[in-house]
Amino acid sequence: MIKFYENSRIFHLQTKNTSYIFGFLKGKFLTHLYWGKALSVDELDYDMFIDYPQYRRNMCAADYKEYALSRDCLPMEYSTFGNTDQRTPAFHAVYENGSFITELEYDSHIIYDGKKGILGLPYVYTENEDEAQCLELTLKDKLTGLEITLVYSVFDELDAITRSVRIINKGTSTARLEAVLSAVVDFKSADYDFIHLPGAWARERHPERMPVITVKMLVDSARGNSSAQHNPFFALVGKNTDENSGEAYGFNLVYSGNFTAGVEVDPYNTARAFIGINPFGFNWKLQSGEEFVSPEAVLVYSDEGIGGMSRIYHKLYRTRLCRGKFRDSERYVLLNNWEATYFNFDEEKILNIAKKAKEVGVELLVLDDGWFGKRNSDNCSLGDWYVNKEKLPNGLTGLAEKINAMGMKFGLWFEPEMVSPDSDCYRAHPDWCIHSENRIRSEARNQLVLDLSRQDVCDYIYNSLFNIISTANISYIKWDYNRTMSNIGSALLDSDRQGEFFHRYILGLYSVLEKITSAFPDVLFESCSSGGARFDPGMLYYMPQTWTSDDTDALERVYIQYGTSLCYPYSCMGAHVSIVPNHQVGRITPISARGNVAMQGQFGYELDLNKLSETEIEAVKEQIKTYKRLGEVFHKGDLYRLITPDNNYVSNEFISEDKNRIVLVNSVLRAVPNSPVYYLLLKGLDREAMYQIEGTEKVLSGAILMSSGIPYKLSNDYASKIIVLNKL
Ligand code: DGJ
Repeated sequence: MIKFYENSRIFHLQTKNTSYIFGFLKGKFLTHLYWGKALSVDELDYDMFIDYPQYRRNMCAADYKEYALSRDCLPMEYSTFGNTDQRTPAFHAVYENGSFITELEYDSHIIYDGKKGILGLPYVYTENEDEAQCLELTLKDKLTGLEITLVYSVFDELDAITRSVRIINKGTSTARLEAVLSAVVDFKSADYDFIHLPGAWARERHPERMPVITVKMLVDSARGNSSAQHNPFFALVGKNTDENSGEAYGFNLVYSGNFTAGVEVDPYNTARAFIGINPFGFNWKLQSGEEFVSPEAVLVYSDEGIGGMSRIYHKLYRTRLCRGKFRDSERYVLLNNWEATYFNFDEEKILNIAKKAKEVGVELLVLDDGWFGKRNSDNCSLGDWYVNKEKLPNGLTGLAEKINAMGMKFGLWFEPEMVSPDSDCYRAHPDWCIHSENRIRSEARNQLVLDLSRQDVCDYIYNSLFNIISTANISYIKWDYNRTMSNIGSALLDSDRQGEFFHRYILGLYSVLEKITSAFPDVLFESCSSGGARFDPGMLYYMPQTWTSDDTDALERVYIQYGTSLCYPYSCMGAHVSIVPNHQVGRITPISARGNVAMQGQFGYELDLNKLSETEIEAVKEQIKTYKRLGEVFHKGDLYRLITPDNNYVSNEFISEDKNRIVLVNSVLRAVPNSPVYYLLLKGLDREAMYQIEGTEKVLSGAILMSSGIPYKLSNDYASKIIVLNKL
């Protein structure tokens, strides 16, 4: 619900549990007043929230003598560069006359039911008008004619607020946009901890928590993708906030390219949180009459701790970010041949792997890298999307038919955004890759990145995919992206538009994704980027799951999936069982641990099952049965992280949508000799109801399970156990 109080000119955005309030102080300054637990009040005024006189401080320039205030000391809702607010601006432009100043005033606003899309960009959507309300608040710079519309959508039941920004140049001269952040929120105090998700290849999204101090703390990417190094997510949480209690504020950007996200603390202990496209490497020429739209930021508040925040993101993303046929339906248990064969395969080998896969209950066989051109290693052929007949004499059509005849579906790997210097594609179109004239073209993994800011390149990618998907019965595509961008430049962009490259690339990528996923609605698409280097909501809008990491070791995955789950649901995480010793870390973990950790996500195998022992094969069969029975609880249920991996013991509790089934996935990371018994205190149950532990006669009340707990004792390294409780 969105209310506008005419007298005070205050907007009150209200979800089920949250209020977000801002207004035009003195009728003029767009001031942020409050974000937190829902307030039910009839009238609102500024002095309920801020102490106006304290804003007359030394050293701060006063905006107007008659107001005797400085914006540097006000919590601002969308601050522009060039006035008295000297903290990180939300918006910064340079005009033709050399001026840096943008001065915004109220122009108009509209409030409406439902939510509109954002042209060319992914966004959180509604299915019915009553799910959300939107506010579009237009501000205008009289001198330049620039109009900035702040777009807020308020999801009542789903408990989230989204923000984006639309800019139209209604002036006569050109503006160069240098920073257009999607959301900035000023907090009255900086007494928070900052949580973010740093990582690297094979160890993505390992949460870090640290106190906010009097500096500007930010995480970002200038690599062209959202990256493994940082994720476009952070949270500000109270000092005492833990998994289950305390305040947590989440910020996440629905975007797959360069971003900035962070918090700046001023000398008065106020904190400005911000998120948006990275201003570094961004310079957008906005001519008269042109429009620019920012990506969407998703803001979540919870007073039920970090877990409460995660649950809001999970539900929102799995129901109103992911799209298409596979959003709600069960996906396939797959087997991917990558770690089984790498590039070294032929049809016979694949069929041999497939045969065993079918025996254990696998539903989809995925052929990974190496099926095209003359690719037998990573040094050639990207861009040459025609089948390698030496390896696959019957082509993809023939292979897919044989796999289908076994009773399985067939899936295929692609890396559409790349080109190998050793490829027909590159020889014919050397200007199609990202490059800058007379500069080195740095190769990573022997490949260059195609320039998706170009329409001809986007068309080539679309047509290549379209042709291949049409020639065989393909049910799944793994869309890979294995290097970051460098030596930035585009052969087609004018010299004064090169600063638009990074964002135009992402717009090109999204346009291809929109087109190809619409053309093949029955194909399941999974995003991948050297593992999880593009695990972001932007990609999830087009492809409902992402390969979480190339590291499939059970122990490593506990950490990676935990970090990922701070913002993203398990239903979006591709997770497979692989062989031991693990190819990334050499560790040997039991098949039970690998299975139990992986089956919380979108489950599969990444090995040649022919190499397993009979006992392991029996375990695999059981795993697939368990997954088929419980997958829905993992993917549609609510997650409570009862014990997080920093404790050596880990326990995830999933509660089914109808609240009738509870699944606990418990693991121990390293055994403790003669360890004490721990009692798991369950969460989110009905205290009065009775629950039976599956496979036993034991029946316990919700109250006992939540207040006294159930014993948890696992003795060996990497031991793990799934416990199911059913409500009676
Ligand atoms: C990186 C991916 O993460 C792997 O799963 C595999 O598909 C390789 N690329 C293939 O090159």
